[in-house]
Parts: sequence; C-alpha cells; structure tokens
Amino acid sequence: MNRLTGKVAVVTGGSLGIGAACATRLLQEGAKVAIVDVKDSEGKQLANQLGKGTRYYHADTSSEHDVRQAVADVLRDFGRIDVLVNNAGISGANKPTHEITEDEWDRVQAINVKGVFFFTKHVYHVMRAGGGGSIINLSSIYGLVGAPDIPPYHASKGAVRLMSKVDALLYARDGIRVNSIHPGFIWTPMVEHFASALGGELVDRRKELDSLHPLGHIGEPDDIAWAVVYLASDEAKFVTGSELVVDGGYSCR
Ligand SMILES: NC(=O)c1ccc[n+]([C@@H]2O[C@H](COP(=O)([O-])OP(=O)(O)OC[C@H]3O[C@@H](n4cnc5c(N)ncnc54)[C@H](O)[C@@H]3O)[C@@H](O)[C@H]2O)c1
Repeated sequence: MNRLTGKVAVVTGGSLGIGAACATRLLQEGAKVAIVDVKDSEGKQLANQLGKGTRYYHADTSSEHDVRQAVADVLRDFGRIDVLVNNAGISGANKPTHEITEDEWDRVQAINVKGVFFFTKHVYHVMRAGGGGSIINLSSIYGLVGAPDIPPYHASKGAVRLMSKVDALLYARDGIRVNSIHPGFIWTPMVEHFASALGGELVDRRKELDSLHPLGHIGEPDDIAWAVVYLASDEAKFVTGSELVVDGGYSCR
C-alpha cells in the first residue's frame, strides 16, 4: 500500500483504459496522481471517484503548448513530479501501408511519438530539480515484433522503444530512469474499437485475440498498472533502459 508514498505521478491518457488503471494503482500505493487527457468528462469523473490526491488536467499530448501548460499546472498544484507515465496513444488507421494517407500517418506519430517527446522534454527539468524520477513509456508488443496490421502504430511503438533507451542513457546521471512497457492485447476501449472494426461478432473477435496469447487470454488494464507501479517505485532503482514485456507470452515465439 505504501510503495509510492511521497511521490507525484503524471499519467497521460489517464481517463480510460490502461491509464485509468495506472492512476488508480499509483494512488493506492501512496502517490499523488495527475490525470492528463483530452476526454474531460471521463477524466474528471475518475478524479472525483478516486478522491483526495488526484486531479484532472486537460492536455492534448500532441500539442507542445498544452503539454507545457499541463506540466506547469501540475507543478503549481503538487510541487514536484517524480513519475511520468507516457501512456496516451491511439491505434490509428488499420489499412495496409499503401492505402494510408499522410494525415493518417502523421496523426499517429503526433500523439504516440511526439507526445512522449513533449512530455519528457517538459518534465525533465522538473524531475532533475527534484533529484531524479522515473519515466515509463507505453510501447507495445507492436514495438517489438511485426503483425500484418496498423503500420503507423507499429512505427510509432518501435520509435518509443528506442526513445526510451536513448533517454535512459541521457538522463541516468540525473537520477532519472526511463523504461518502456510492452503490453500484449489488453481489453480496453482502444482494443474493443479495434476488434469491432474487424467486423462480425465482438465475442468472436475477442476469442481470436485471446488465442494469440500462449496464456490463453488477453490481458486486463491492471496487468499493466502493476508493472507501472513497479517501475515507478524504488524497487526498480537499478532498472533503466529496460523493456518490460507484459504480454501473456505473445512475443515468445
Ligand atoms: N490496449 C492494448 O492492447 C495495448 C497494447 C499495447 C500497448 N498499448 C498502449 O497503451 C496505451 C493505452 O492504451 P489503451 O488501450 O488504454 O487506450 P484507450 O484508447 O483505451 O485509452 C487511451 C486514452 O488516451 C487518451 N488520449 C488519446 N489521445 C490523446 C491525446 N492526444 N492527448 C491526451 N490523451 C489522449 C484517450 O482519450 C484515452 O483516455 C497506448 O499508448 C497504447 O498504444 C495498449
């Protein structure tokens, strides 16, 4: 219950799905939590539900203006930032590469890649001034291995994997650890939308996704939230530049 006492955490994309589970578990373990998202009503509702120690902030992570403002607001309200969970992301257009438009490609990179860059850039000085911190970037199994779908998403998650390693090297001397997490399929609004778009019965699509994982089922948001708690905590004080794979065995083959 007290693995994160005294720490302040920022969770981007914290209104729904994996981000909401992360916000919940980080708070439960003693951190104060800033939920950042564009889905204001869901984010405010979650912050209200979680209660003391949580606040909601509106920011589109693909806008440097929004990110700068959100970091300043969190600092004003909480006084420090020890943990940054770069979780906001979209799956984007599910078409073969030759059918994707430039706008579709750019939108995915703007949120999934540039959003991680902007938040890391603006939180860095705050963490450094506070004596260090932990940056946790949500990559994916799709940042480790290929699959014949969502090409811009694969590109973005591969980028996040290496951005994490470069920043781990750049900021190790500042006491800032940077790691990536690589979830398998997790049942969230993103995956439900992805599965629905494939057509047919949703329950059948889910079974197909289940069968891709050697453990026999897809994951739940808490499976990732606990990995985030570990990387955020001092239990992981010697862990930086690592790829924490939480995928039910998907990428073993
Ligand atoms: N669900 C999975 O199977 C899975 C697997 C691997 C990696 N991931 C990654 O985990 C992260 C969370 O995924 P999820 O499944 O919970 O997604 P989700 O769509 O269920 O939730 C994502 C949240 O991010 C927010 N968001 C989207 N764009 C934003 C922006 N520009 N600025 C601020 N907030 C924004 C959304 O409003 C939403 O609240 C993503 O980076 C995703 O790529 C998910």
